[in-house]
This record gives sequence, structure tokens and C-alpha cells, in this order.
Amino acid sequence: MAELLRVKRLDERLLALRERAKAGRDPTATDETLECLLEHIEREPPARILEIGAGEGLTSCALLLFSAAELTAIEADPLRAARARENFERFGLSERAVLYEGDAGEILPLLGGEYGLIFLDGPKAQYRRYLPDLKRLLRRGGVLFSDDVLLFGWGSGAAPIPSKRRMLAAHIQEYLRLLQADPELSTEILPIGEGLAVSTRL
Ligand SMILES: C[S@@+](CC[C@H](N)C(=O)[O-])C[C@H]1O[C@@H](n2cnc3c(N)ncnc32)[C@H](O)[C@@H]1O
Repeated sequence: MAELLRVKRLDERLLALRERAKAGRDPTATDETLECLLEHIEREPPARILEIGAGEGLTSCALLLFSAAELTAIEADPLRAARARENFERFGLSERAVLYEGDAGEILPLLGGEYGLIFLDGPKAQYRRYLPDLKRLLRRGGVLFSDDVLLFGWGSGAAPIPSKRRMLAAHIQEYLRLLQADPELSTEILPIGEGLAVSTRL
């Protein structure tokens, strides 16, 4: 496992909130995934970041604490969105963060401008539907990180898919196929967390 050099440097209060959130139903990004995001923004600092499925804003906060970027977050669950706002406030980040509360499928088409980093961590079955907007919003040279694309080995076909989850697995497999076949994207799939697709806009 890669060393978590950057994650370990984060504010202790944020690390404590992450530990609590990791045990929740829709857990926050794993340490390895967050380390990968932080390593990327250290190397190529983005001016604007977009996170889809921001949860309680813990990954958003880490990305903002690690950069001077402005961030747009989308979260559908009102309680989580309220916690995300509290967390932006708690870490003094509210001025650089805008949170849209609602369905990403409705909000994404309304967003404009370009983002240097997009972290896609919302409803897995919707990733394919979001892709045209994500590409429109990703600047050239920018990177789209799509989380959980190998979901329990189903995405790659490495593990048998329970019958109830076949539809979800098919959505993810199709999303991966679209990413890899897209001539405007160069995609690498990292076996960290539940699989992280890293797609650079050419
Ligand atoms: C895995 S959690 C996000 C964790 C967060 N990215 C982090 O790293 O801390 C997925 C989130 O997507 C949100 N979500 C689910 N469906 C959504 C939708 N249609 N639009 C926006 N957010 C959605 C869930 O409420 C949940 O908070």
C-alpha cells in the first residue's frame, strides 16, 4: 500500500471525522483514494474542483485544505448536505466552496465553466448518464476521478455478481467501457479502494 504521506498531514479534526464516516452506510473515500487525489493536486494544482456525491464534505474539505482551488460540490441528501456546509464552516473553507443540494443528474447540466479535477463519487448506476456533462466540464489536461468502478470485483468481472446487483454491475461495466473507448480521454484504472478510474482529458 502506498504511504499515506499527505493524508497524515491533514487536520486532526478532519481525520477524526473521516474515521467516523468510514463506518457509515455511504462511507467517505478510502485513505488510498484520498492520498491519490491529494498527490494529484499537489503535482497539478487545479483552479476549480467538482465533487459529485460530496457526502458530508470530508473529501471536499481535504482537497480545499490542500490547495487554493475553488470547489463545487453536489449532494442529494439534505442531512449530509447540511453537515458538509457545517464542515466547510468549521475548517474556514466556506468562501471557496459552493454546495448544490439536489440530484446531480439535474444539477450537472446547469453547471458551466471548466474544472481541472472532477471527483465522481455519487450514484454508481448514473455514472454513464453523467459522462457527457462531465466531459463538457473537464478542461483539457484536467482529470476525472471515478470512484468504485471495480465495486466488489463486479466491474471487472473478477467476482460473481449477485443476481440483485446485475443491473448495477452492467451500468458500471458499460461506464468503464465508455471511458476506455473514448478518444478524448486517456483512462487508467487503479486497484485502490473499490477501484478508481483516472481519466485525463486529452
Ligand atoms: C460514497 S458517498 C460520498 C462520499 C464523499 N464523496 C466523500 O468522499 O466523503 C456517496 C454520496 O452520493 C450521494 N448521492 C446519491 N445519489 C445522488 C444523486 N443523485 N445526486 C447527488 N448525490 C447523490 C449520497 O447521498 C452520498 O452522500
